[in-house]
Amino acid sequence: QVFLERYGYLKHRASGGAVSGQLQEAVSEFQWLSHLPISGVLDNVTVQKMALPRCGVKDADSHAVWTERVNNLFSGQTSKPRRKKRYSQQGDKWYKHRLTYRIVNWPRYLSQSQVRLAVKTAFELWSNVSSLVFWEVAEGLADIRLAFFQGEHNDGINNAFDGPGGALAHAFFPRRGEAHFDNDERWSLDRGKGRNLFIVTAHEIGHTLGLEHSPVKNALMSPYYKKLGKGFVLSWDDILAIQNLYGKPSSGSAVQLPGKLFISFQNLAEDRNLSIPTTAELNLLGSSYCSSLFDAIMMDLNQIVYIFKGIHYWTVLKDANVTGPHLIQKSWARLPATIEAAAVSPANGKTYFFRGGRCWRYRGTELEEGFPRKVNTMGVPRHPDSAFYFQPLGHMVILKGNKYYVVNEESLQVEAYYPRSLDDWKGVPVHVNGVIPRADGFLYFFKDDRFLKFDKDKLRVVGSGFWMEELKWTGCQNRNATVSII
Ligand SMILES: *[C@@H]1O[C@H](CO)[C@@H](O)[C@H](O)[C@H]1NC(C)=O
Ligand SMILES: *[C@@H]1O[C@H](CO)[C@@H](O)[C@H](O)[C@H]1NC(C)=O
Ligand SMILES: *[C@@H]1O[C@H](CO)[C@@H](O)[C@H](O)[C@H]1NC(C)=O
Ligand SMILES: *[C@@H]1O[C@H](CO)[C@@H](O)[C@H](O)[C@H]1NC(C)=O
Ligand SMILES: *[C@@H]1O[C@H](CO)[C@@H](O)[C@H](O)[C@H]1NC(C)=O
Repeated sequence: QVFLERYGYLKHRASGGAVSGQLQEAVSEFQWLSHLPISGVLDNVTVQKMALPRCGVKDADSHAVWTERVNNLFSGQTSKPRRKKRYSQQGDKWYKHRLTYRIVNWPRYLSQSQVRLAVKTAFELWSNVSSLVFWEVAEGLADIRLAFFQGEHNDGINNAFDGPGGALAHAFFPRRGEAHFDNDERWSLDRGKGRNLFIVTAHEIGHTLGLEHSPVKNALMSPYYKKLGKGFVLSWDDILAIQNLYGKPSSGSAVQLPGKLFISFQNLAEDRNLSIPTTAELNLLGSSYCSSLFDAIMMDLNQIVYIFKGIHYWTVLKDANVTGPHLIQKSWARLPATIEAAAVSPANGKTYFFRGGRCWRYRGTELEEGFPRKVNTMGVPRHPDSAFYFQPLGHMVILKGNKYYVVNEESLQVEAYYPRSLDDWKGVPVHVNGVIPRADGFLYFFKDDRFLKFDKDKLRVVGSGFWMEELKWTGCQNRNATVSII
């Protein structure tokens, strides 16, 4: 109520120029996202919606800080001293503009050069819109330290990491300078499966700089995980928040690039020359699916294995020779940049790809007529985990969460009595990355760095292991699985 009164009062003082236009636009956007009547006015309902409690994240102060920020916008103040915080770990801000950071250790499955570039870019998001400047240091003291931990890591039982999902990361307010990431999370740096490390790093950096959670839904500092989209990563509110603390960039104007530039740090690393790869590194890059998670796997009628990750794919021939990386879109025109599941029909060699709510079918590299097709017209769920052909059923099987669907290739419809529970596949976990049938008669399920060997007659998992080291036909065996690109 106080806020509303203040808002009403301040509204009269606002000159109606660019600033109030900007706020009105932002309010309208919030109302639109929240399915409220779009008036552009901060009315009661809108304010209440913004203040709704959100998932378990400690953000008791964020609404007050946000209110203050918006008030400052109207009163023309930019760096009002902030009130005293309740928690001793929360300072307010750094009293210098040049800060160093250090990546203390590394996540599994990602190359160091990609992680370094992603972290550098995440800091750049903030330095490009504020007066801050950041430097990476490789060792010794640093103002801000980024580290990957599993489970309990001396931040108290309540802050222990919880494996995949749930808490992804957390950070401390200034001037402790630490951000911690759950190393059990499936981190990724492209639009493939897993959590985008670039986005989460940028969010946690915000905390290390003194930013609280933002109630604005598409803000990077919203407590919810934000997906990397084509649009700007920072919202108007993130920019306002950082500039409130540290002022505008010395160059005068803030620079933001569209999010679509950050969908693959592998390509950026090549373009941007951050680290010039040696021949040995290029060789490793050539098969970088070996040290990471992949999005999908399939095998064609010639027993060539295709492994899809991000915007690339690799092939592994029968004698384990690897080719790639190739761009997915170069080989199958009209596919999206990345895919989620793929399968080859043993009956006719046609290839099926899935992503989001659509399915594509190719004969060779020719997209067939009537495709892409909406999966909901087939009875198939959106965003499938994986797809494969299962000879005993004579149909394609689609896995999604704890269910599976059997699709008839003739009618392109899910068969009657499906979906059924994944429990039918004894020993198969949820969210597998991909599945292929092999000539040895077994089905191979892949999940992260492990594989499960499934017996088609006994209908259960009969073996498991680490695919990079133990399955020669993945093309990874003769490489040092632990080597990453420096
Ligand atoms: C706005 O909300 C406050 C408390 O949430 C309530 O007392 C007040 O009557 C509301 N005003 C209107 C116009 O609905
Ligand atoms: C920051 O701005 C510079 C140009 O001033 C640009 O080259 C760089 O890509 C920007 N970085 C980000 C993350 O937007
Ligand atoms: C890449 O690095 C080399 C060697 O450091 C330098 O000479 C070259 O100008 C750089 N290219 C770009 C595009 O920055
Ligand atoms: C596979 O690689 C080996 C050694 O690099 C080479 O001799 C062989 O010809 C390759 N096979 C194919 C089918 O390319
Ligand atoms: C692979 O590992 C072996 C021993 O584990 C080591 O001697 C060799 O240098 C490594 N190769 C590369 C390319 O790092």
